[in-house]
Amino acid sequence: MDGRTLLKVVIITCLIASSTGRELKVKDQRTIYNHTLATILVEYAATVYHSDLTELFTWTCPRCDDLTKGFQIIELIVDVKRCLQAFVGVAPDLNAVVIAFRGTQGTSIQNWIEDLYWKQLDIDYPGTEDAMVHHGFYSAYHNTTLRPGVLSAVKTAKELYGDIPIMVTGHSMGGAMAAFCGLDLTVNLGSRNVSVMTFGQPRIGNAAFVSYYSKRVPNTIRVTHEHDIVPHLPPYYQYFPQKTYHHFPTEVWLHNTGLGILAYTVEKVCDNSGEDPSCSRSVAGNSIKDHLRYYGVRLGGEEDPGFCRIVMDRGLAAHGTVDVDGNVILSRDIPASVLRMNVESNEQGRSV
Ligand SMILES: *[C@@H]1O[C@H](CO)[C@@H](O)[C@H](O)[C@H]1NC(C)=O
Ligand SMILES: *[C@@H]1O[C@H](CO)[C@@H](O)[C@H](O)[C@H]1NC(C)=O
Ligand SMILES: *[C@@H]1O[C@H](CO)[C@@H](O)[C@H](O)[C@H]1NC(C)=O
Repeated sequence: MDGRTLLKVVIITCLIASSTGRELKVKDQRTIYNHTLATILVEYAATVYHSDLTELFTWTCPRCDDLTKGFQIIELIVDVKRCLQAFVGVAPDLNAVVIAFRGTQGTSIQNWIEDLYWKQLDIDYPGTEDAMVHHGFYSAYHNTTLRPGVLSAVKTAKELYGDIPIMVTGHSMGGAMAAFCGLDLTVNLGSRNVSVMTFGQPRIGNAAFVSYYSKRVPNTIRVTHEHDIVPHLPPYYQYFPQKTYHHFPTEVWLHNTGLGILAYTVEKVCDNSGEDPSCSRSVAGNSIKDHLRYYGVRLGGEEDPGFCRIVMDRGLAAHGTVDVDGNVILSRDIPASVLRMNVESNEQGRSV
């Protein structure tokens, strides 16, 4: 065997070894990615940006149709001061409770993204050692009117519909809040069947947090799109594993491949590390445009979200409570809505 052949053998052996290694790494118990479900949940993540509360509450907004048709809001929660919004409701088609959180709207997305470069891990996540998260994302869910509103609606849903699955979703910062909510429901409310699917979310905690999170909410899919910049932030420093932000699994990276008329979108299910180097990390995160579109659905507020816009007509006030800070919680008159849902389902020949 001459030197060159030997070299070839060595290289081939290495390739085989490394590819087997990779195969072993992905053999684990993880959520199965469901494309259909993703295309439905992204609609909810888009709808929660809608600023006309009457149209949202009555589910008559322009997007409140097709894949989300028949959705019954149990509670719509708006934190006016911080410009946060979320809803909890029941989706008859999915036979599940859906909880959706809105992303940033009050300031321009550009400023918000620039800020993300400098976010520190600055608060301990309670209940587990060494787990740290970003205070701003953490408190947007935990220390606002959103958490009590969501928990009370989830309890109501449980009384009415039993232990149906709970699906939590959100885009951008709404994805960060969805993750905190999914963990909270599992750990503090004892909900069983919680799954989380987020779109273009930033990193929210360190590796210790990720390991705590993934054990409790293994049914998590974190969808990223092409060069979307937000999943790259706050930055991941490979050489400082203890100190850096770290994503949780399982990433699903949407990207285009092929050229011209042969171009098509690949939905790559990534490894169980949370930081698969062959997924969105394999490209530069330099696009806001890719951040604002997932599965062809536009996510985000109005084109010029210079301020936090909320529209509500007077008829809605009867359903609502407004606290001292001006926050709004709109709750449905539940028995009537259960009735309505059953009637609608019967009309369509389906039972709930
Ligand atoms: C994927 O999700 C859709 C919508 O919830 C559901 O109808 C379908 O059965 C799911 N597919 C699989 C393979 O679980
Ligand atoms: C929660 O909010 C209150 C009032 O805004 C603030 O004083 C408190 O420090 C916050 N707590 C956390 C943990 O962020
Ligand atoms: C979660 O809900 C789905 C659909 O109802 C069901 O098939 C599954 O067994 C449930 N899982 C658990 C752990 O309860």
